[in-house]
Amino acid sequence: MQTPWEYRYAHRTKNMGSSVIRELLKLTEQPDIISFAGGLPAPKVFPVKQFQEACNIVLEQHGPQALQYSTTEGYLPLREMIARHTARYSVEVAADNIMITSGSQQALDFIGRLFINRGDYIVVESPTYLGALQAWNAYGAQYISVRSDEHGMIVDELEAALRVGPKFIYVLPNFQNPSGSTLSLERRKQLIEIADKYGVPIVEDDPYGQLRYEGDHIPSVVSLDSEFRGPNGGTYSGNVIYLSTFSKLLAPGLRLAWVIAPSQVIKKLVMAKQAADLHTSSFIQYVAYEVAKGGFLDEHVKVIRATYKERRDVMIEMMEEMFPQGVTWTKPHGGMFLWGILPEGMDAAQVLERAIEKKVAFVPGIAFHPTGGGENTMRLNFSYSNPETIREGITRLGTTLKEFVSERV
Ligand SMILES: Cc1ncc(COP(=O)(O)O)c(C=O)c1O
Repeated sequence: MQTPWEYRYAHRTKNMGSSVIRELLKLTEQPDIISFAGGLPAPKVFPVKQFQEACNIVLEQHGPQALQYSTTEGYLPLREMIARHTARYSVEVAADNIMITSGSQQALDFIGRLFINRGDYIVVESPTYLGALQAWNAYGAQYISVRSDEHGMIVDELEAALRVGPKFIYVLPNFQNPSGSTLSLERRKQLIEIADKYGVPIVEDDPYGQLRYEGDHIPSVVSLDSEFRGPNGGTYSGNVIYLSTFSKLLAPGLRLAWVIAPSQVIKKLVMAKQAADLHTSSFIQYVAYEVAKGGFLDEHVKVIRATYKERRDVMIEMMEEMFPQGVTWTKPHGGMFLWGILPEGMDAAQVLERAIEKKVAFVPGIAFHPTGGGENTMRLNFSYSNPETIREGITRLGTTLKEFVSERV
Protein backbone atom coordinates (compact mmCIF):
# COMPACT_ATOMS: atom_id res chain seq x y z
CA MET A 1 0.00 0.00 0.00
CA GLN A 2 1.25 3.52 -0.82
CA THR A 3 1.83 5.70 2.22
CA PRO A 4 1.00 9.42 1.97
CA TRP A 5 4.74 10.10 1.81
CA GLU A 6 5.54 8.22 -1.35
CA TYR A 7 4.09 10.66 -3.89
CA ARG A 8 5.28 13.77 -2.05
CA TYR A 9 9.03 13.42 -2.47
CA ALA A 10 10.68 15.84 -4.91
CA HIS A 11 11.89 14.47 -8.27
CA ARG A 12 15.51 14.86 -7.19
CA THR A 13 15.11 12.13 -4.57
CA LYS A 14 14.90 9.60 -7.43
CA ASN A 15 18.65 10.07 -7.89
CA MET A 16 19.37 9.43 -4.22
CA GLY A 17 18.51 5.72 -4.29
CA SER A 18 20.31 3.02 -2.41
CA SER A 19 22.62 0.73 -4.37
CA VAL A 20 23.51 -2.94 -4.14
CA ILE A 21 26.98 -1.91 -3.00
CA ARG A 22 25.66 0.31 -0.22
CA GLU A 23 23.42 -2.53 0.96
CA LEU A 24 26.42 -4.85 1.03
CA LEU A 25 28.48 -2.30 2.90
CA LYS A 26 25.88 -2.14 5.66
CA LEU A 27 26.91 -5.71 6.46
CA THR A 28 30.48 -4.54 6.99
CA GLU A 29 29.40 -2.60 10.07
CA GLN A 30 29.08 -5.79 12.15
CA PRO A 31 31.53 -5.48 15.05
CA ASP A 32 33.53 -8.66 14.30
CA ILE A 33 34.30 -7.66 10.71
CA ILE A 34 37.71 -6.25 9.84
CA SER A 35 36.70 -3.41 7.60
CA PHE A 36 39.01 -1.85 5.05
CA ALA A 37 35.86 -0.36 3.53
CA GLY A 38 35.43 2.93 5.42
CA GLY A 39 37.55 6.02 4.97
CA LEU A 40 38.22 6.61 8.64
CA PRO A 41 41.34 8.17 10.16
CA ALA A 42 43.03 6.28 13.01
CA PRO A 43 41.41 7.30 16.33
CA LYS A 44 44.81 7.05 17.99
CA VAL A 45 46.00 10.18 16.18
CA PHE A 46 43.12 12.36 17.35
CA PRO A 47 44.61 15.10 19.57
CA VAL A 48 42.09 14.63 22.38
CA LYS A 49 44.19 16.32 25.09
CA GLN A 50 44.86 19.39 22.96
CA PHE A 51 41.12 19.72 22.33
CA GLN A 52 40.32 19.36 25.98
CA GLU A 53 42.72 22.17 26.86
CA ALA A 54 41.59 24.35 23.96
CA CYS A 55 37.92 23.97 24.98
CA ASN A 56 38.75 25.31 28.43
CA ILE A 57 40.78 28.23 27.07
CA VAL A 58 38.06 29.17 24.55
CA LEU A 59 35.31 29.05 27.18
CA GLU A 60 37.38 31.07 29.63
CA GLN A 61 38.61 33.70 27.19
CA HIS A 62 35.89 33.88 24.50
CA GLY A 63 32.92 32.03 26.02
CA PRO A 64 30.04 34.29 24.95
CA GLN A 65 31.41 34.93 21.40
CA ALA A 66 32.21 31.26 20.83
CA LEU A 67 28.68 30.27 21.84
CA GLN A 68 26.98 33.03 19.83
CA TYR A 69 25.73 33.06 16.20
CA SER A 70 28.53 34.09 13.89
CA THR A 71 29.31 35.20 10.32
CA THR A 72 28.60 32.80 7.48
CA GLU A 73 32.09 33.18 5.98
CA GLY A 74 33.67 31.77 9.13
CA TYR A 75 35.81 32.88 12.07
CA LEU A 76 38.21 35.53 10.71
CA PRO A 77 41.38 34.48 12.63
CA LEU A 78 40.88 30.92 11.35
CA ARG A 79 40.43 32.14 7.76
CA GLU A 80 43.51 34.34 8.09
CA MET A 81 45.50 31.40 9.42
CA ILE A 82 44.41 29.33 6.42
CA ALA A 83 45.38 32.22 4.11
CA ARG A 84 48.86 32.35 5.68
CA HIS A 85 49.22 28.57 5.43
CA THR A 86 48.14 28.67 1.78
CA ALA A 87 50.60 31.50 1.03
CA ARG A 88 53.39 29.14 2.12
CA TYR A 89 52.51 27.14 -0.99
CA SER A 90 52.72 30.26 -3.14
CA VAL A 91 49.01 30.90 -3.68
CA GLU A 92 48.18 34.55 -3.14
CA VAL A 93 44.94 34.45 -1.17
CA ALA A 94 43.12 36.96 1.01
CA ALA A 95 40.62 36.10 3.74
CA ASP A 96 37.79 36.97 1.32
CA ASN A 97 38.96 34.08 -0.90
CA ILE A 98 38.14 31.67 1.93
CA MET A 99 34.92 30.30 3.38
CA ILE A 100 34.70 27.81 6.23
CA THR A 101 32.34 24.88 5.65
CA SER A 102 30.94 22.06 7.76
CA GLY A 103 33.22 19.50 6.09
CA SER A 104 34.32 19.45 2.46
CA GLN A 105 31.25 17.35 1.83
CA GLN A 106 29.15 20.45 2.44
CA ALA A 107 31.30 22.43 0.01
CA LEU A 108 30.68 19.76 -2.65
CA ASP A 109 26.95 20.09 -2.07
CA PHE A 110 27.12 23.89 -2.36
CA ILE A 111 29.12 23.62 -5.58
CA GLY A 112 26.33 21.41 -6.93
CA ARG A 113 23.73 23.94 -5.79
CA LEU A 114 25.57 26.86 -7.44
CA PHE A 115 26.62 25.34 -10.72
CA ILE A 116 24.62 22.26 -11.70
CA ASN A 117 21.40 22.45 -13.67
CA ARG A 118 19.60 19.16 -14.35
CA GLY A 119 21.41 17.39 -17.18
CA ASP A 120 24.66 19.38 -16.90
CA TYR A 121 27.85 17.45 -17.54
CA ILE A 122 30.70 17.30 -15.03
CA VAL A 123 34.09 15.90 -16.03
CA VAL A 124 35.37 13.42 -13.45
CA GLU A 125 38.30 11.06 -13.18
CA SER A 126 37.45 7.42 -13.49
CA PRO A 127 37.38 6.28 -10.70
CA THR A 128 36.32 9.30 -8.60
CA TYR A 129 35.12 10.20 -5.08
CA LEU A 130 31.74 8.65 -4.36
CA GLY A 131 30.66 11.45 -2.00
CA ALA A 132 30.91 14.02 -4.80
CA LEU A 133 28.69 11.87 -7.03
CA GLN A 134 26.17 11.52 -4.20
CA ALA A 135 26.14 15.30 -3.70
CA TRP A 136 25.75 16.13 -7.39
CA ASN A 137 23.34 13.36 -8.37
CA ALA A 138 20.69 15.21 -6.36
CA TYR A 139 21.08 18.18 -8.74
CA GLY A 140 20.69 15.97 -11.82
CA ALA A 141 24.36 15.93 -12.87
CA GLN A 142 25.60 13.71 -15.67
CA TYR A 143 29.21 12.67 -15.88
CA ILE A 144 31.93 12.42 -18.49
CA SER A 145 34.65 10.13 -17.22
CA VAL A 146 38.27 10.61 -18.15
CA ARG A 147 40.45 7.55 -17.58
CA SER A 148 43.25 7.68 -15.04
CA ASP A 149 46.41 5.71 -14.34
CA GLU A 150 49.03 5.75 -11.56
CA HIS A 151 49.80 9.40 -12.46
CA GLY A 152 46.17 10.50 -12.13
CA MET A 153 43.79 11.71 -14.81
CA ILE A 154 45.05 11.01 -18.34
CA VAL A 155 44.93 14.65 -19.30
CA ASP A 156 45.54 13.91 -22.99
CA GLU A 157 41.99 12.57 -23.06
CA LEU A 158 40.53 15.70 -21.46
CA GLU A 159 40.08 17.81 -24.60
CA ALA A 160 37.55 15.40 -26.06
CA ALA A 161 35.56 15.60 -22.81
CA LEU A 162 35.68 19.41 -22.76
CA ARG A 163 34.22 19.60 -26.27
CA VAL A 164 30.95 18.26 -24.79
CA GLY A 165 30.65 21.55 -22.84
CA PRO A 166 30.81 20.48 -19.16
CA LYS A 167 30.20 22.88 -16.26
CA PHE A 168 33.47 22.04 -14.52
CA ILE A 169 36.24 19.48 -14.10
CA TYR A 170 36.49 17.67 -10.77
CA VAL A 171 39.95 16.43 -9.79
CA LEU A 172 41.56 14.86 -6.73
CA PRO A 173 45.25 15.41 -7.43
CA ASN A 174 46.82 13.99 -4.25
CA PHE A 175 46.57 10.34 -3.16
CA GLN A 176 43.18 10.13 -4.74
CA ASN A 177 40.15 8.64 -3.05
CA PRO A 178 39.66 5.87 -4.17
CA SER A 179 42.70 4.93 -6.26
CA GLY A 180 45.57 6.45 -4.24
CA SER A 181 47.08 7.91 -7.43
CA THR A 182 48.74 11.34 -7.60
CA LEU A 183 48.47 13.67 -10.57
CA SER A 184 51.96 14.39 -11.91
CA LEU A 185 53.28 17.96 -12.08
CA GLU A 186 53.36 17.84 -15.86
CA ARG A 187 49.71 16.76 -16.03
CA ARG A 188 48.68 19.45 -13.50
CA LYS A 189 50.18 22.12 -15.74
CA GLN A 190 48.58 20.58 -18.82
CA LEU A 191 45.21 20.44 -17.00
CA ILE A 192 45.38 24.16 -16.19
CA GLU A 193 46.25 25.09 -19.77
CA ILE A 194 43.54 22.94 -21.35
CA ALA A 195 40.90 24.11 -18.85
CA ASP A 196 41.91 27.70 -19.57
CA LYS A 197 41.76 27.14 -23.34
CA TYR A 198 38.17 25.85 -23.10
CA GLY A 199 37.14 28.27 -20.32
CA VAL A 200 36.06 25.44 -18.02
CA PRO A 201 36.64 25.84 -14.25
CA ILE A 202 38.35 23.22 -12.11
CA VAL A 203 37.19 21.95 -8.70
CA GLU A 204 40.23 20.63 -6.83
CA ASP A 205 39.40 18.40 -3.86
CA ASP A 206 42.45 17.95 -1.64
CA PRO A 207 41.80 16.36 1.76
CA TYR A 208 45.03 14.30 1.74
CA GLY A 209 47.69 16.68 0.33
CA GLN A 210 49.55 16.93 3.67
CA LEU A 211 49.63 13.16 4.14
CA ARG A 212 52.65 12.34 1.98
CA TYR A 213 54.85 9.42 3.07
CA GLU A 214 57.44 9.51 0.30
CA GLY A 215 58.53 11.61 -2.66
CA ASP A 216 58.43 15.37 -3.07
CA HIS A 217 55.47 17.67 -2.55
CA ILE A 218 53.79 18.62 -5.83
CA PRO A 219 52.20 22.10 -5.94
CA SER A 220 48.41 22.14 -5.85
CA VAL A 221 46.44 22.90 -8.99
CA VAL A 222 45.21 26.16 -7.42
CA SER A 223 48.79 27.30 -6.73
CA LEU A 224 49.91 26.43 -10.27
CA ASP A 225 46.87 28.24 -11.64
CA SER A 226 47.75 31.26 -9.50
CA GLU A 227 51.31 31.17 -10.91
CA PHE A 228 49.98 30.72 -14.46
CA ARG A 229 47.93 33.92 -14.08
CA GLY A 230 50.69 35.97 -12.41
CA PRO A 231 50.59 38.39 -9.44
CA ASN A 232 47.18 39.77 -8.54
CA GLY A 233 47.63 42.05 -5.54
CA GLY A 234 47.42 39.37 -2.85
CA THR A 235 44.07 37.93 -3.88
CA TYR A 236 43.08 34.90 -5.96
CA SER A 237 40.83 35.31 -8.99
CA GLY A 238 41.71 32.30 -11.14
CA ASN A 239 39.96 29.26 -12.55
CA VAL A 240 40.05 26.87 -9.58
CA ILE A 241 37.83 26.21 -6.58
CA TYR A 242 40.00 24.45 -4.01
CA LEU A 243 38.66 22.35 -1.12
CA SER A 244 40.51 21.06 1.90
CA THR A 245 39.55 19.93 5.36
CA PHE A 246 40.61 19.47 8.99
CA SER A 247 39.02 16.00 8.92
CA LYS A 248 42.29 14.23 8.21
CA LEU A 249 44.62 16.69 10.00
CA LEU A 250 42.70 17.02 13.28
CA ALA A 251 39.49 14.94 13.41
CA PRO A 252 36.51 14.35 11.08
CA GLY A 253 33.98 14.72 13.90
CA LEU A 254 34.72 18.45 13.97
CA ARG A 255 33.05 18.83 10.55
CA LEU A 256 35.41 21.66 9.68
CA ALA A 257 36.80 22.44 6.25
CA TRP A 258 37.53 25.34 3.93
CA VAL A 259 37.04 26.48 0.36
CA ILE A 260 39.42 28.75 -1.56
CA ALA A 261 37.90 30.47 -4.58
CA PRO A 262 37.73 33.85 -6.34
CA SER A 263 35.90 36.26 -4.01
CA GLN A 264 32.91 36.49 -6.39
CA VAL A 265 32.43 32.70 -6.07
CA ILE A 266 32.87 32.92 -2.28
CA LYS A 267 30.02 35.50 -2.19
CA LYS A 268 27.70 33.01 -3.93
CA LEU A 269 28.87 30.17 -1.68
CA VAL A 270 28.10 32.36 1.33
CA MET A 271 24.51 32.74 0.09
CA ALA A 272 24.19 28.96 -0.28
CA LYS A 273 25.61 28.43 3.19
CA GLN A 274 23.38 31.05 4.77
CA ALA A 275 20.37 29.17 3.47
CA ALA A 276 21.74 25.79 4.52
CA ASP A 277 23.01 26.27 8.08
CA LEU A 278 23.80 30.00 8.67
CA HIS A 279 27.39 29.15 9.60
CA THR A 280 29.67 26.36 10.78
CA SER A 281 29.72 25.94 14.57
CA SER A 282 31.40 29.02 16.08
CA PHE A 283 32.58 27.02 19.05
CA ILE A 284 34.31 24.39 16.89
CA GLN A 285 36.00 27.10 14.82
CA TYR A 286 37.32 28.85 17.94
CA VAL A 287 38.54 25.57 19.42
CA ALA A 288 40.22 24.35 16.21
CA TYR A 289 41.92 27.73 15.86
CA GLU A 290 43.12 27.54 19.45
CA VAL A 291 44.58 24.05 18.82
CA ALA A 292 46.21 24.99 15.51
CA LYS A 293 47.37 28.57 15.98
CA GLY A 294 50.78 27.94 17.59
CA GLY A 295 52.09 25.65 14.82
CA PHE A 296 50.68 22.43 16.35
CA LEU A 297 49.58 21.08 12.96
CA ASP A 298 53.12 21.00 11.57
CA GLU A 299 54.20 18.70 14.40
CA HIS A 300 51.00 16.69 14.55
CA VAL A 301 51.01 15.88 10.84
CA LYS A 302 54.39 14.15 11.31
CA VAL A 303 52.75 11.74 13.79
CA ILE A 304 49.92 11.04 11.34
CA ARG A 305 52.38 10.45 8.49
CA ALA A 306 54.47 8.01 10.54
CA THR A 307 51.37 6.08 11.68
CA TYR A 308 49.80 5.75 8.22
CA LYS A 309 53.08 5.02 6.44
CA GLU A 310 53.62 2.03 8.72
CA ARG A 311 50.06 0.81 8.07
CA ARG A 312 50.42 1.24 4.32
CA ASP A 313 53.67 -0.69 4.36
CA VAL A 314 52.22 -3.52 6.44
CA MET A 315 49.23 -3.79 4.12
CA ILE A 316 51.41 -3.95 1.01
CA GLU A 317 53.80 -6.48 2.60
CA MET A 318 50.86 -8.70 3.50
CA MET A 319 49.32 -8.38 0.05
CA GLU A 320 52.62 -9.48 -1.49
CA GLU A 321 52.60 -12.51 0.77
CA MET A 322 48.92 -13.47 0.70
CA PHE A 323 47.34 -12.36 -2.58
CA PRO A 324 47.31 -14.82 -5.50
CA GLN A 325 49.08 -14.20 -8.78
CA GLY A 326 47.10 -12.05 -11.19
CA VAL A 327 45.94 -9.62 -8.49
CA THR A 328 47.82 -6.30 -8.56
CA TRP A 329 47.65 -3.08 -6.53
CA THR A 330 48.91 0.49 -6.40
CA LYS A 331 51.54 1.76 -3.97
CA PRO A 332 50.21 5.21 -3.07
CA HIS A 333 52.77 7.79 -1.89
CA GLY A 334 50.36 9.10 0.72
CA GLY A 335 46.72 9.33 1.76
CA MET A 336 44.57 6.55 3.18
CA PHE A 337 43.68 4.18 0.33
CA LEU A 338 45.15 1.70 -2.04
CA TRP A 339 43.56 0.19 -5.10
CA GLY A 340 43.46 -3.48 -5.96
CA ILE A 341 42.98 -4.82 -9.47
CA LEU A 342 41.66 -8.36 -9.89
CA PRO A 343 42.10 -10.44 -13.04
CA GLU A 344 39.87 -9.26 -15.91
CA GLY A 345 36.38 -10.78 -15.68
CA MET A 346 36.48 -11.25 -11.89
CA ASP A 347 33.71 -9.39 -10.04
CA ALA A 348 34.85 -7.59 -6.87
CA ALA A 349 31.24 -7.35 -5.59
CA GLN A 350 31.04 -11.17 -5.61
CA VAL A 351 34.40 -11.32 -3.85
CA LEU A 352 33.03 -8.93 -1.20
CA GLU A 353 30.05 -11.19 -0.52
CA ARG A 354 32.42 -14.10 0.17
CA ALA A 355 34.85 -11.85 2.07
CA ILE A 356 32.07 -10.74 4.41
CA GLU A 357 31.50 -14.42 5.28
CA LYS A 358 35.18 -14.51 6.24
CA LYS A 359 34.70 -11.32 8.26
CA VAL A 360 36.70 -8.89 6.15
CA ALA A 361 35.46 -6.07 3.91
CA PHE A 362 36.49 -3.52 1.27
CA VAL A 363 34.60 -1.37 -1.26
CA PRO A 364 34.14 -2.80 -4.79
CA GLY A 365 35.55 -0.28 -7.27
CA ILE A 366 32.43 -0.20 -9.45
CA ALA A 367 30.88 2.23 -6.92
CA PHE A 368 33.42 4.90 -7.95
CA HIS A 369 32.77 4.66 -11.70
CA PRO A 370 29.73 6.82 -12.56
CA THR A 371 29.76 5.85 -16.24
CA GLY A 372 30.45 2.14 -15.79
CA GLY A 373 33.50 -0.11 -15.58
CA GLY A 374 35.78 -1.03 -12.70
CA GLU A 375 33.98 -4.31 -11.90
CA ASN A 376 37.31 -6.01 -11.17
CA THR A 377 38.67 -3.30 -8.86
CA MET A 378 38.57 -2.71 -5.10
CA ARG A 379 39.39 0.08 -2.64
CA LEU A 380 41.20 -0.77 0.58
CA ASN A 381 41.65 1.68 3.46
CA PHE A 382 44.88 1.32 5.45
CA SER A 383 44.62 4.25 7.90
CA TYR A 384 42.00 2.94 10.32
CA SER A 385 43.11 -0.56 11.34
CA ASN A 386 46.22 -1.16 13.43
CA PRO A 387 49.06 -3.25 11.91
CA GLU A 388 48.00 -6.45 13.64
CA THR A 389 44.42 -6.12 12.39
CA ILE A 390 45.70 -5.32 8.89
CA ARG A 391 47.76 -8.56 8.94
CA GLU A 392 44.74 -10.63 9.95
CA GLY A 393 42.37 -8.86 7.53
CA ILE A 394 44.67 -9.23 4.51
CA THR A 395 45.23 -12.90 5.39
CA ARG A 396 41.45 -13.45 5.32
CA LEU A 397 41.10 -11.50 2.09
CA GLY A 398 44.00 -13.38 0.52
CA THR A 399 42.29 -16.69 1.34
CA THR A 400 39.07 -15.44 -0.26
CA LEU A 401 40.88 -14.27 -3.40
CA LYS A 402 42.79 -17.55 -3.74
CA GLU A 403 39.48 -19.43 -3.65
CA PHE A 404 38.08 -17.23 -6.44
CA VAL A 405 41.17 -17.53 -8.59
CA SER A 406 41.33 -21.31 -8.21
CA GLU A 407 37.61 -21.68 -9.04
CA ARG A 408 38.22 -19.83 -12.34
CA VAL A 409 40.89 -22.21 -13.67
C1 LIG B 1 38.01 13.23 -1.71
C2 LIG B 1 37.18 13.62 -0.54
N1 LIG B 1 36.50 14.76 -0.57
C3 LIG B 1 35.75 15.14 0.47
C4 LIG B 1 35.66 14.37 1.61
C5 LIG B 1 34.78 14.83 2.74
O1 LIG B 1 35.55 15.34 3.75
P1 LIG B 1 34.93 16.10 5.02
O2 LIG B 1 35.12 15.20 6.19
O3 LIG B 1 35.73 17.36 5.12
O4 LIG B 1 33.50 16.37 4.73
C6 LIG B 1 36.35 13.16 1.68
C7 LIG B 1 36.24 12.30 2.87
O5 LIG B 1 36.70 11.21 2.96
C8 LIG B 1 37.14 12.78 0.57
O6 LIG B 1 37.84 11.63 0.58
